[in-house]
Amino acid sequence: MLFNKKLLAWFQENGRNLPWRGINDPYKIWLSEIILQQTRIEQGRDYYMRFTEQYPTVTHLANASEEEVLKTWQGLGYYSRARNLHASAQFIANQLNGQFPNSYEGLLQLKGVGKYTAAAIASFAYRLPYPVIDGNVYRFISRLYGIDTPIGTDAAYKQFETLLLKLIDREQPDLFNHAMMDFGSTYCKPTGCNCKECIFQNECVAWKTQRVEFLPVKGNTVTIKHRWFYYYFIVWEQQGNQTTMLHRREGKDIWKGLYEFPLIETNHALTQKELHKQNSHIVSLIGNSEAQQIIISSPIKHQLTHRTIQATFIYLHMGSNIEVQLLEGEQKFSIEEAKKLPISRLIDIYTQQIHWMENEIH
Ligand code: ADE
Repeated sequence: MLFNKKLLAWFQENGRNLPWRGINDPYKIWLSEIILQQTRIEQGRDYYMRFTEQYPTVTHLANASEEEVLKTWQGLGYYSRARNLHASAQFIANQLNGQFPNSYEGLLQLKGVGKYTAAAIASFAYRLPYPVIDGNVYRFISRLYGIDTPIGTDAAYKQFETLLLKLIDREQPDLFNHAMMDFGSTYCKPTGCNCKECIFQNECVAWKTQRVEFLPVKGNTVTIKHRWFYYYFIVWEQQGNQTTMLHRREGKDIWKGLYEFPLIETNHALTQKELHKQNSHIVSLIGNSEAQQIIISSPIKHQLTHRTIQATFIYLHMGSNIEVQLLEGEQKFSIEEAKKLPISRLIDIYTQQIHWMENEIH
């Protein structure tokens, strides 16, 4: 049987039923693909439902504020995806009269849309024969053909694309791509796949040459930088309101547009002594001699693609009706206001852990 006949028959039996499948609205497909770029399906599904409900069309998304979109995105991480979504929605609404691009090249013009996402939208929404090539597809195809070119390079992409252009079902590129993704992620898994019962056993070069576990060959692995963050959650009571200070991150930054507490960043873990010295310095900068209460969190580890962050949160309760100088660049918010701001996953984890300290404050 032809490769893609077999694959599509498998997909009919075993394909996943997902809310962004069986539709041809390019806007919703784009939303789903951006959400799924670095997110597990289960979590992605919730956010997809949330976004499509809150912003049913690209115009709705364009008309929302960036701050609101970031808040809706909160918890998904890699916030540049949300900023690009919003900027692209405005571009489509204002420059393209609300018409979603309907060609592969047109899709590539959207911020945050690379070859993979353009191929996904082109095939799912417009049935154009562009193969999707993600980690799952690389794995499946490298094993099937015994290809040991290191993946993640331009050369590998070209090689796999050429091959897939020959394989893709030109009548049903949408189903072909869904099937490739599903077979790669649910059957031809990184480890522990059931090769003995695989429908492609006869064709699979890696199986025949006992190289399943060695393929695909990974390209350059990224070097991971380690950073230590010390966040100061400074609270004081002012006119009956619990008040704190935060700033909005700006510049070229993965957390641009999100709010966070005053931060001191170091390239090593501070000793107890160094941390106490730093705490006293902060307390003096805000114009006080001591804090009423200091609670230091255990470090919270946050893993990004190129960086590991160990974040320690220092809660300083300064007391009631006292003068507090804002640290440079910080803004004052009541806790109630602060809860409505878009914040990074890291800050969210901490503030959820401590419930914004509401129970501790009298
Ligand atoms: N991962 C990225 N895009 C996907 C899709 N359309 N279906 C399932 N998993 C995906």
